[in-house]
Amino acid sequence: MKTTAISFLLVALSASGCTSQAQSVRHAAPRPASSLSEAFEGHFLMGTALNTAQIFEKNAAETSLITSQFSSIVAENCMKSESIHPEQERFFWTEADAFVSFGEKHDMHIQGHTLAWHSQAPAWLFVDAQGNEVSREVLLDRMQTHITTLLQRYQGRVVGWDVVNEAVLDDGSLRDSAFLRIIGPDWVEHMFRFAQAADPSAKLFYNDYSTWKPEKREGIYRLVKGLQDKGVRVDGVGMQGHMGLHTPTVGAFEEALVRLSELGEVMITELDISTLPRPGKDVSAEVSLSVAYQEEMNPFRQGLPESVAQRLNHRFVEMFELFLRHRASISRVTTWGVTDASSWRNDWPMKGRVDYPLLFNRDRSPKPAVARLIALAHN
Ligand code: G3I
Repeated sequence: MKTTAISFLLVALSASGCTSQAQSVRHAAPRPASSLSEAFEGHFLMGTALNTAQIFEKNAAETSLITSQFSSIVAENCMKSESIHPEQERFFWTEADAFVSFGEKHDMHIQGHTLAWHSQAPAWLFVDAQGNEVSREVLLDRMQTHITTLLQRYQGRVVGWDVVNEAVLDDGSLRDSAFLRIIGPDWVEHMFRFAQAADPSAKLFYNDYSTWKPEKREGIYRLVKGLQDKGVRVDGVGMQGHMGLHTPTVGAFEEALVRLSELGEVMITELDISTLPRPGKDVSAEVSLSVAYQEEMNPFRQGLPESVAQRLNHRFVEMFELFLRHRASISRVTTWGVTDASSWRNDWPMKGRVDYPLLFNRDRSPKPAVARLIALAHN
């Protein structure tokens, strides 16, 4: 449209008062977001981990909570090798297929977890029929079959995979797992090469906990950078967000986030904030830890004291302020579970405790932090 015509139109509109109305409409305050996924849209995906009951939509109210508050899902357990590949010649697809179908039905981003992990591996994976450890060649062949089968089945549907999970120790060295013992220090490289060949369209990530510990962070950096320098595609790092009310500090997490973002996309993959005292010194997510039940380590059986609830909400806010500061580097933030009722934290490292680590209460009501995070995203 020519300039003169536009100016005539604007004059006509202003005379009729339309532009002032148009201007008022144009400057009307945006409707506040009604959910976490809507609030953070344009910054990063807001995700959650689904258990089997949630995947099969056993509770309509919980399904509604998941699909209204989150835009990304990851399988908490059903895609792990012990679950999906229980015997060498048998895959169990029912739950993983239902998980992917859930994501497609509700138009959600679907993340696969996890292809190669020393934990939750099926008994047959590392041994032969006589129970002896297999050779490097045999294990590589078995993992190539495992990874290729999964990625080809879900190609174009599962858009990103945690290819290798928790291969680095706190001191930055490679974990002494069966993968390392049998294949050797290049085992991680082979897993990523298998995944890259199987589904060139999928994004491929390394995922780990306690990434804020400087030595561990640098060990992860060396590992991933070394692969990338050899032309092996690693699209980024998943920083598991298993944390406590005071550890890690925002500064420590931020330092690691900045450093690991040099490698590509960063995802906060397993955010939960435990409110309970830690048996032992370490804040980690070493799933093999197990401590006998002690009553004094389960102080909030009857509910969370207000002071602790406020600290928890403050922690969620300060962490999301950090994520928003670095939203250009972060593609996804995923809570490791939907409500406090389904959190692994209730049984780790001590079974039978009552924890409050997530954004939604046991009755599915939102904690005060949810409204504060939605408001934060708007500022
Ligand atoms: O499904 C069986 C059930 O049939 C059986 O009756 C029951 C007996 O204990 O076990 C059930 O399986 C449990 C499974 O969770 C499903 O509930 C396993 O024992 C239990 O070990 C498993 O724990 C999971 C853990 O990983 C180990 O796979 C947690 O739910 C899950 O939250 C946790 O998630 C890991 C991430 O994958 C990686 N990062 C750390 C994170 C926390 O450990």
